Amino acid sequence: MKIAVAGTGYVGLVTGVCLAENGHSVTCVDVDASKIEMMRRGISPIYEQGLSELMRKNKEKLTFTLDFKEAYADADVIFIGVGTPEKRDGSANLAYVYGVADQIAEVVTKECVVVVKSTVPIGTNDKIEQYFADRLQNRVKIHVASNPEFLAQGTAVRDTLHASRIVIGVEDAYAEKMLREVYRGFDAPLLVTNRRSAEMIKYASNDFLALKISYINEIANLCEIIGADIEDVTKGMSYDTRIGSKFLNAGIGYGGSCFPKDTKALSWLASYNDNEIKTIKAAIEVNESQKLKPVKKASKYYKDFRGLNVAVLGLTFKPGTDDLREAPSLVTVPILVDDGANIKAWDPVGCDNFKKHVPEGITYCETIEETLKDADICFIFTEWPEVKVLNPSVFVEKMRHPIVIDGRNCFSVKDIKGVPMVYESIGRAVIDNR
Ligand code: UDX
Repeated sequence: MKIAVAGTGYVGLVTGVCLAENGHSVTCVDVDASKIEMMRRGISPIYEQGLSELMRKNKEKLTFTLDFKEAYADADVIFIGVGTPEKRDGSANLAYVYGVADQIAEVVTKECVVVVKSTVPIGTNDKIEQYFADRLQNRVKIHVASNPEFLAQGTAVRDTLHASRIVIGVEDAYAEKMLREVYRGFDAPLLVTNRRSAEMIKYASNDFLALKISYINEIANLCEIIGADIEDVTKGMSYDTRIGSKFLNAGIGYGGSCFPKDTKALSWLASYNDNEIKTIKAAIEVNESQKLKPVKKASKYYKDFRGLNVAVLGLTFKPGTDDLREAPSLVTVPILVDDGANIKAWDPVGCDNFKKHVPEGITYCETIEETLKDADICFIFTEWPEVKVLNPSVFVEKMRHPIVIDGRNCFSVKDIKGVPMVYESIGRAVIDNR
């Protein structure tokens, strides 16, 4: 079976490499020559645990090319894994998906299945099928199938090789047969639905998780006011197997390439169909205001940040990735910069990307200790393991004023007992031991 994958971002590259790991020959296509060159040398252009190793292990089965004709012309299955970024109105931008569809329509010479892995609004697979029908250069049959991905960054390889489920949305037996063949070696439950249901499963899953996070963040905010402790509250909730413990970590809001975009896209689609989904709209609003929590908390201690030494620990939207998309730090740090703070920031992998977003006004440090030196306040935006293992006394030793605003509840309240510092976290009591 000859497989091609369009796009070598998180979705495309991880899919291609994991299919090769399961014995398929895969040709990955991208428009970025420098990325293709890197991948040919066995280097992953994205920071993802275990990916480079698998690329090198399967190098005989992986081809990287700029030449879409070579990849698509006689492929049996073509995966589309390009981005569907958010448009200004919140809807999904499908320009890259249709760009690939144009190329496929131009060059395919035999019957094949085009599999849409990118997250696309419900009904897009139907439209793509029509798009092919209108544009095909050669009289061949193209079957369109939906096969959403559920991988999380940082664990993308594991999430693909040991998927929680494989969802296949098809309208004909040929597409189902081919996709069953593609996933034969995978150890995961396989669910076959129609295309629209498959498209909806992706949005409904992501938006449910986003909703869960916004819900627990609102409960955390209330805990702060009424004197309950969110960590105990979530522990108590999680014994109920109907609720579970996952995605109940209170913090400064979800970021990343999926939740923000997918909540907005489904909300847009629902409103467009005169069927507003109020819960998702609320989740989006809660998330936006949650990102501002650290600055609001800090303003209790300082009227403004002009001339203050501010330490920032963690920039990425979560640990284990260098991705900054929709990271809460991108909301907060520019506010501090504009306010005239002297900012020192530390992140094990996110600094280079952050420079692209906020080019001036920040000193990047190699170590946490250097970042904290003489700081008047410290913000924790990402729960990196390096932060979580710190002995809280380091804040007292290094900072001028040991005031810590922990947006990710990296420390237990017990750890701070007796340490002469101010410690504010999310959904827990303020500790002021000065
Ligand atoms: C997510 C989904 O998990 C994945 O299934 C989908 O395919 C893509 O979107 P990802 O964006 O990589 O994956 O990250 P995830 O680990 O889900 O975290 C998203 C955001 O939610 C992060 O900013 C994280 O900090 C936040 N989060 C997560 C919380 O605030 N609390 C939690 O309990 C869990």
